[in-house]
Amino acid sequence: MIALKHDTIRPYGHTNTSKKEEVEHMFDNIAHRYDFLNHLLSAGIDHTWRKKAVDYIGQIQPLIIADLATGTGDFALESARLNPKKIIGIDISEEMMHYGRIKAKNKGYNHIEFVKGDSEQLNFPTDYFDAMTVGFGVRNYQNLEQGLSEMYRVLKSGGRLVILEVSIPKNSFMKFIFNIYFNYFCPFIGRLFSKDVRAYTYLNESVNAFPSGNDFVTILNKVGFKNTVWKPLTFGICAMYTCEK
Ligand SMILES: C[S@@+](CC[C@H](N)C(=O)[O-])C[C@H]1O[C@@H](n2cnc3c(N)ncnc32)[C@H](O)[C@@H]1O
Repeated sequence: MIALKHDTIRPYGHTNTSKKEEVEHMFDNIAHRYDFLNHLLSAGIDHTWRKKAVDYIGQIQPLIIADLATGTGDFALESARLNPKKIIGIDISEEMMHYGRIKAKNKGYNHIEFVKGDSEQLNFPTDYFDAMTVGFGVRNYQNLEQGLSEMYRVLKSGGRLVILEVSIPKNSFMKFIFNIYFNYFCPFIGRLFSKDVRAYTYLNESVNAFPSGNDFVTILNKVGFKNTVWKPLTFGICAMYTCEK
């Protein structure tokens, strides 16, 4: 496995810590503001993207669902309407999941469990999950291919995976707007509210370095997924990747 360009983009760029440690630290830092900023910066459209993604896995009526890089659990909460037996939210940031646990409890979703864990080294048996979701997480993996291979391993044969990721629109006007928004507006608002100077600049850098669209489809197929399709959402500012094992 070779390191992709995005593997080298890190939040703080320290020499004595790994990308993973920096990502964990960064999300622990911004967790208390994450939901507020996420919904502010996406004007709430992120809910409609997760809804679409959950509709895709809902077609196979999954009983055990994993939401990787679950953060504050919005994807896990959205999947609850499928009435599965169990949803497991997995993340390296305890602080992010702290808020997820509160939201799940408030909604009375006892079948959602939050577990600290690394998507690149999942502590679950092979062929365990019926379906998996990952929202805006794969861009942060230290080793993307390793993370996707692990996801493939723990998914059951015939199981479905859906990934949402921020993407750069193809249309030049939308790309212009997107660049202003991501290069200037997001870092400004992020700095103002989260007090982590790097977090929302890293967001922009990591989106730029991520192998999106057909390039990402190629990587998903390389690790074994099939029927892989990607779809631009909301003028291409988000991409939805769907595939099966
Ligand atoms: C941008 S947040 C997304 C949270 C949530 N999925 C959503 O849709 O809002 C990215 C999350 O990925 C987590 N993450 C990054 N690398 C990870 C890894 N290797 N294993 C598990 N979680 C990881 C971070 O801790 C963070 O909570």
